[in-house]
Amino acid sequence: MYKRREYVELYEKDLAKWALLRNVNTVVKQSTLLPGDYVWLDLKTGREFEVPIGAVVKLCDSGQIQVLDDEGNEHWISPQNASNIKPMHPTSIHGVEDMIRLGDLNEAGILRNLLIRYREKLIYTYTGSILVAVNPYQVLPIYTADQIRLYTNKKIGEMPPHIFAIADNCYFNMQRNNRDQCCIISGESGAGKTESTKLILQFLAAISGQHSWIEQQVLEANPILEAFGNAKTIRNDNSSRFGKYIDIHFNKRGAIEGAKIEQYLLEKSRVCRQAHDERNYHVFYCMLKGMTADEKKKLGLSKATDYTYLTMGNCTVCDGRDDMKEYSNIRSAMKVLMFTDKEYWEISKLLAAILHMGNLRYEARTYDNLDACEVVRSPHLTTAATLLEVDGKDLMNCLTSRTLITRGETVSTPLSMEQARDVRDAFVKGIYGRLFVWIVEKINAAIYKPASSQPKVLRRSIGLLDIFGFENFTVNSFEQLCINFANENLQQFFVRHVFKLEQEEYNLENINWQHIEFTDNQDALDMIAIKPMNIISLIDEESKFPRVRTLRWWWWGGQGTYTRGRSQGRHPSKVNTVKMLEFADLSL
Ligand SMILES: Nc1ncnc2c1ncn2[C@@H]1O[C@H](COP(=O)(O)OP(=O)(O)O)[C@@H](O)[C@H]1O
Ligand SMILES: [Mg+2]
Repeated sequence: MYKRREYVELYEKDLAKWALLRNVNTVVKQSTLLPGDYVWLDLKTGREFEVPIGAVVKLCDSGQIQVLDDEGNEHWISPQNASNIKPMHPTSIHGVEDMIRLGDLNEAGILRNLLIRYREKLIYTYTGSILVAVNPYQVLPIYTADQIRLYTNKKIGEMPPHIFAIADNCYFNMQRNNRDQCCIISGESGAGKTESTKLILQFLAAISGQHSWIEQQVLEANPILEAFGNAKTIRNDNSSRFGKYIDIHFNKRGAIEGAKIEQYLLEKSRVCRQAHDERNYHVFYCMLKGMTADEKKKLGLSKATDYTYLTMGNCTVCDGRDDMKEYSNIRSAMKVLMFTDKEYWEISKLLAAILHMGNLRYEARTYDNLDACEVVRSPHLTTAATLLEVDGKDLMNCLTSRTLITRGETVSTPLSMEQARDVRDAFVKGIYGRLFVWIVEKINAAIYKPASSQPKVLRRSIGLLDIFGFENFTVNSFEQLCINFANENLQQFFVRHVFKLEQEEYNLENINWQHIEFTDNQDALDMIAIKPMNIISLIDEESKFPRVRTLRWWWWGGQGTYTRGRSQGRHPSKVNTVKMLEFADLSL
């Protein structure tokens, strides 16, 4: 690998040179600039997230400077605004493969480097041992068998940055040092995490070299997981709505001998509700497009637009996705992973039952002055009951009343229409969540081989973490809080790990370094789930009150203190609202 000392020396030398130039510039200002020079242009518009943009000097005319920025806009800079432009370090002009080499190592420098490389279809860039990938949103000819060969058994930095270089590095470190490896893939929704995971998996399957059944099975797990755990969102047509960790196991010779998949935090609320322009999980639409007429008849199914649970986002088709073709891919992947025809049919029955449940209609009633309701008689209720293999009457009772068992006595109270809808939604979320877990277990049963108990039979692994990304909506659900909490933990681990590693590396090379400040989010983690009286335990406590449906929380950012309101959104007067989360759906 590269030597950090070289970079540090290079950087320090450049830094001195540029400090000198900046000094000169502050004195002679624009007179030192010539047409063709590159500068940083700070537009100072005050917009959120704005950073200086790169620009090239076009004209220097009677004190005025004309520049053309990276987005193709021209600007005239008058002598009064001369401080809006700063010279650009030569490393930022044409870009670098490893951003540690950037002379202007700041946000603007990093963003411009990624931009100019992206424009040349160079989507991968290093920052030391971290690979930054920019989603190209087009198929680039960089993942061929030839490319796999080119990147096999090379040191990082020997070839241009590439996801294959990271995979290769993992594989050979595992072999050489006899140590398990792990790749963490992080980024916002649609950034390309899942595609990157698949590329690493493909590379590992190719270089481990057996072209065996087990490799095929590991690769075929993805279409199934994506059918049941991915959906179209406004950001990504194939957004993963769960997190996964795939541990790939290798034998002593470095051949894949199995894998284990762990899933976490499936977004169950999507089964009942979708935001505008978003879809439910792919599998529902695929099933309705791909099943034979006979199969659909047996399940009482028709087309996607007929189901409430599939039309909440007003969107049943997804441009560029062929649900019918996907369905046949799911079926064949299930065969590879040993799902029997009976199991496939049982899964289909549960999915169909969910759709029928979503179409149930309720009518309000009053019994003994209590709000109650009834399910309107329809084929959906009877079909759902048949598919779930339960008695129709029992199903109706469960959906419209609550039964409490206290001190051996059973008390049944009716549910209002609103409560009954919530119960129905909670029920289908429960079914789907368990189905998903069962599917992952079924896949693992095919691909996971427990490690041998004989100490001599060595097994090594590479773990790939494809996270379920952080998001911040105007209103964040409880599920989102859990997802963001998982991400915060991961971020904490990642930052600490990277800084620790860097510091060790600096010490190894005898480089003097000063302590580097980094954002420590431990306070946020403590407040959400770690310290006594944390938010999760308070939610737990609140959710035991039967009638509380909505909780609102406020807290003061930074100080780790907060207050809460249990009423429907009244602001406690003393609170200085920095952040507000609204948690509905606590009945689950
Ligand atoms: N390396 C890549 N090459 C081509 N297209 C890509 C690449 N990475 C991502 N994409 C495109 O972007 C979409 C979203 O990527 P995905 O991996 O699902 O994002 P994430 O998992 O980060 O939410 C993919 O469906 C694919 O169309
Ligand atoms: Mg994803």
